[in-house]
Amino acid sequence: MNNGAIGFIDSGVGGLTVVKEALKQLPNEHLIYLGDTARCPYGPRPAEQVVQFTWEMSSFLLKKNIKMLVIACNTATAVALDEIKDRLDIPVVGVILPGSRAALKATKTNQIGVIGTLGTIKSGSYKEALKSKVPSVEVQSLACPKFVPIVESSEYRSSVAKKVVSETLRPLKTRTGLDTLILGCTHYPLLRPLIQNEMGSQIKLIDSGAETISEVSVLLDYFNLAAEPKKIAPINEFYTTGSANMFKEIANDWLELETINVEHAKIGGNVSD
Ligand code: DGL
Repeated sequence: MNNGAIGFIDSGVGGLTVVKEALKQLPNEHLIYLGDTARCPYGPRPAEQVVQFTWEMSSFLLKKNIKMLVIACNTATAVALDEIKDRLDIPVVGVILPGSRAALKATKTNQIGVIGTLGTIKSGSYKEALKSKVPSVEVQSLACPKFVPIVESSEYRSSVAKKVVSETLRPLKTRTGLDTLILGCTHYPLLRPLIQNEMGSQIKLIDSGAETISEVSVLLDYFNLAAEPKKIAPINEFYTTGSANMFKEIANDWLELETINVEHAKIGGNVSD
């Protein structure tokens, strides 16, 4: 047993989709979340910069003595997971392998689509992860750079969002045989109803973040790190490098919590880089 906190990092609010699942599956755990909203989006940034920002976020949470780190961001997982895993002595979990495993389990046609940020798609990480398990799987990848700004600006239920989702996903809709689509960015589950509507109910959507929490749960048990059962849920902590109010608005809407503690955090050198 270990009552230390689990740390979550993302470029902004996207990782809250992973936290939502953690609140459901792991209510005894103390969660500490950091979103680098001031420097979001990470998707179009060079890989070296994303690695540096990911280290800065990780260092912030390590000072809070976390017992496990979840990189709740596909873009950061794609470029920084291996390095961070190698250098930390706590378990570090990314979102790409859990999402890939779930997609391979779901597909019947062996044809999987992946949507993500420019960085994630350019890295080829999903294709690599999927093919490393099932070499014959066919993977169709599509970068959706307009999705993250829509989510970060709380516009994810608007008519503009509907139009952008519809136009962006057009190349995937014409693809015959595809039966599974990985939401390869933790911001995308907030657009899930629009994406499902656009792709049709026959397409199974895989939320990589949600799948990740099942693996976190297994690892907590494996390493004997799970928290003791509690009568009162722990008070979770949320930090953002951007506006605490804006973050709180989205977090309240998404997590449906009565109270939520959000504080501004300063990390790295210049937070508006
Ligand atoms: N939510 C993140 C991801 O899963 C990053 C989005 C971004 O900052 O571009 O890729």
